[in-house]
Amino acid sequence: MSQYQIALLVGSLRRDSFNRKLADAVVALAPPELSFKPLRIDDLPLYNQDDDGNPAESVKRLKSEITASQGLLFVTPEYNRSIPGVLKNAIDHASRPYGQSAWEGKPAGVMGASVGAPGTSMAQQHLRNILAYLDVPTLGQPEVFIHVKDELFDEGGKLANADTKAFLQGWMDRYIAWVRKHAP
Ligand SMILES: Cc1cc2nc3c(=O)[nH]c(=O)nc-3n(C[C@H](O)[C@H](O)[C@H](O)COP(=O)(O)O)c2cc1C
Repeated sequence: MSQYQIALLVGSLRRDSFNRKLADAVVALAPPELSFKPLRIDDLPLYNQDDDGNPAESVKRLKSEITASQGLLFVTPEYNRSIPGVLKNAIDHASRPYGQSAWEGKPAGVMGASVGAPGTSMAQQHLRNILAYLDVPTLGQPEVFIHVKDELFDEGGKLANADTKAFLQGWMDRYIAWVRKHAP
């Protein structure tokens, strides 16, 4: 039976998103101790501080799903050397009203895939900065910068590269230990 629910946030809304495929591959490597709750971020309004006292239903849902989770996993592309606006919008929503952030203290992992050689490293650095401010303990190593090249995923969207799979399994082992250590 799963002991820890992990809120899964994917920073791409694209139908054939590589990051969604990466997230699916990582979830498949997890032991039964972890269950993953994919969070919707495509129906959130643009954050407006005027709405803090009267949040949309989608915002209330997002916050309650994070609150109900014992850990976080962010899988994100890099857009113009940072995280996509849709992901930042979700992070901002769940961080407010001031003093009522849903993120605080939840252990997190970050990773990403991009067609560029840096493999989302700069986006992840921005994300780590945001998470540090939000008091989210974030696993430091190993870093997961996936450069999407031919034959990384098969035609069914599954991870086809054995080395990448083994690397992600090692990451998962470290991530579980991190969640056990920091879960509220
Ligand atoms: C607005 C935009 C900005 C992008 N900027 C970067 C970038 O800074 N670095 C990079 O490696 N790839 C960049 N890309 C290419 C993405 O790596 C590529 O679109 C990737 O497929 C996005 O991830 P996804 O497949 O999960 O949607 C950008 C793509 C878009 C649409």
